[in-house]
Amino acid sequence: MLSLPARCLLRPPRQPLPAPPRRGSSGPGRRWLLSTPIFYVNGPPHIGHLYSALLADALHRHRGLLGPGPGRLATGTDEHGLKIQQAAAAAGTAPSELCAHVSGLFRDLFSRAAVSFTDFIRTTEPRHRRAVQCFWAALQGRGLLYKDFYEGWYCTPDECFLTQAQITERPDAQGRPCKVSLDSGHQVHWTKEENYMFKLSEFQEPLRKWLQGNRHVISPEPFYQVVLRWLEEDLPDLSVSRERNRLQWGIPVPGDSTQTIYVWVDALVNYLTVAGYPDAHHTWWPAAHHVVGKDILKFHAIYWPALLMAVGLDPPEQIYVHSHWTVRGQKMSKSLGNVVDPVACFKQYTVDGFRYFLLRQGVPERDCDYYEEKVIKLVNSELADALGGLLNRCTAPSINPSGIYPHFSESCFRKGSDHMDVEASGRALAEDYELIASVDRLPLQVTDYFEHFQIYKALESVVTCVRQTNGFFQRHAPWKLCRDNPAEKCWLDTVLHVTLECLRIYGILLQPVIPATAEKLLSRLSIKPEERAFTGLTFLPRYHGKPCPFEGRKLGPDMGALFPRLETPRRHQMEIKGLRP
Ligand code: MSP
Repeated sequence: MLSLPARCLLRPPRQPLPAPPRRGSSGPGRRWLLSTPIFYVNGPPHIGHLYSALLADALHRHRGLLGPGPGRLATGTDEHGLKIQQAAAAAGTAPSELCAHVSGLFRDLFSRAAVSFTDFIRTTEPRHRRAVQCFWAALQGRGLLYKDFYEGWYCTPDECFLTQAQITERPDAQGRPCKVSLDSGHQVHWTKEENYMFKLSEFQEPLRKWLQGNRHVISPEPFYQVVLRWLEEDLPDLSVSRERNRLQWGIPVPGDSTQTIYVWVDALVNYLTVAGYPDAHHTWWPAAHHVVGKDILKFHAIYWPALLMAVGLDPPEQIYVHSHWTVRGQKMSKSLGNVVDPVACFKQYTVDGFRYFLLRQGVPERDCDYYEEKVIKLVNSELADALGGLLNRCTAPSINPSGIYPHFSESCFRKGSDHMDVEASGRALAEDYELIASVDRLPLQVTDYFEHFQIYKALESVVTCVRQTNGFFQRHAPWKLCRDNPAEKCWLDTVLHVTLECLRIYGILLQPVIPATAEKLLSRLSIKPEERAFTGLTFLPRYHGKPCPFEGRKLGPDMGALFPRLETPRRHQMEIKGLRP
C-alpha cells in the first residue's frame, strides 16, 4: 500500500465559500429570481420538461443553503396561442378546460418531484394579462411598434416565424412534399396578414454590446458563442401580433380588437409578472436567472433582452441553457410513441432516484440519452451501494453498538502537515490524508460547479469522495478492531468518526439534488435542520483543532436502507439471458 510521509500531501488552504458571482443593482442581499420556462399545455409533461424544472430547482435549493437569499423560483404554464387553440379543437374541448387540466398535470408533477417553486404562473391569469397589456403599452409608448403586412412562414408547433433560409422540404407521412422548419422538423405554413411589428432591428447593436460586456451571461459558453453568431446575421423586425380572426385564444392588443398579442411576447412577460410587474418588480428585476432549453435560446437571448431594453428595463442577469434528452438514441416524439412519462419514472426509480439520474447524467452542453438499464445501474451503484452501503456499514450495531457519533482521537490521526512519518501520524495512512484533503475541498468545488451550471460535475466530485471513503473504511477494516483493547477502540472510534463526518458533508451537499434521501441520511446522523446549511460547514473540526458538536451525540433512529436497490424489470432480465428476442 502506498504510504507517503504525511507532510508530502499538500492540503489546500481552508477558505470560506465564495459568494456566487453578483451583478446588477439587486439590493444589499444577493437576490435571485430563478425561473423555468413556462410549459405548453398541448400535451402532458415528459422527462425533458422535468429536466428543465429540476435544474432550476437544484440551483434554487443550492443557493438557499449558501446564504440567506432571498431567492425565488418561478415555474408555470404557457397557455395561449394557436397551438393550444388547435389542440383544444382537436380534443373537442374548450381551450380553458384543456389548459386547466394540463396545467394541473404540470403542477402536480412538480410538487411530486419536490420542485421547490415559490410561484406557479398560468398565462391565463388576470395578473398576467394586466402585465402583458402594460408591457405592450410601454412598447407602443416608446414608438417601437408599427403595423405592417407580414408575409412569411409560420410554424405552429414551435409558435415561431421563420425565414426562407430556416426551412426545407421533406416528404410528409403520405409522401407529399412539405415545408418544414430546418431546426425542429415541424411543418410550416405560409401566412400573410396585417400584424404589429416590433423594431427588433434597432436592437442589434445594443444586444451585441450587452453580450460583449457580460461574457458569462449565457452559459455554458458554447451557447454564448451561438448567440453572438446570430447577431452577426441580419436581425429583421419581429411580428408581435396575429389577426384575431385566426387566433382568438390569446391576449388582445390593447385598443385594437382585431389583433391578438403574439404568444411568445405573452409568454416571455411571465418573468416580469412573477416579479410583480408593473407595480412592484424593481425589487426583483433584473435579478432574473432563466433556465431554458437550447430550442428556445433565441427567444430568451435575443427577443427577450431586446424587448426589455425597449421598455427601459435591464436584460436578465443570467441565462442557463441545457440540451435535450433522447430516448434510446431517438428524439422523443408522439409519433414514435417513445415519450417518457416522468410519473411512471418516479414509480419505477423513486423520485430521488430519478432526480439523481437526470441531474447526474444530464450534461447541459450536449444531448443525453435515457434508457431504463442506465438509470438502474447508475442509481444502484452510486446511491444504493456506494452511499447507502457506507452509511449502513458505519452505523451497523455490530460495529457501533452504542449508536453514537464516536470520538475522534488526534493521537491516532494526527494533523497531516506537522508529521514526517507514518509512526508519528498515528495510524492514518497517506491515502487517509488524501481523503481528508478531498472532502475539505469538496464544498467549495460543489458550489463552484453549481454556479457554473455544471451540476453533473458537482455530483461526480461527491461520488468520487464517497468511493474514497468506502476505500478508507475498507482499508482499516474496523470490524476487525477489538473494542476491549483501548488503543484499538480509540482507532475504531476515529475511523467511524471520520466516516460519519464524510457522510455528513455528502448529505449536506446532496440536499439540492436528492432532498428526501439527504434528509434521511442527515436525520440518521442526528444532524439538526439548523446544522444543514453550507455556511459554517466545517468538515472534521476535531482534525483542525476545533470542537465538534456531534461527538458523543446519539445517532438518529435506523429507518432501514438509505436507498433500496432498484430491481431490473423482469423483461430485461429475460432479454439479458436471451429468453426474449
Ligand atoms: N412555452 C415555451 C417556453 C416559454 S418560456 C417563456 C416552450 N414550452 S415547451 O413546453 O415546449 O418546452 C419547455 C422546456 O422543455 C424547454 O426548455 C424545452 O427545451 C424543454 N424540453 C422539451 N423537450 C425536451 C427534451 N427532450 N429534453 C430536454 N428538455 C426539453 O418551449
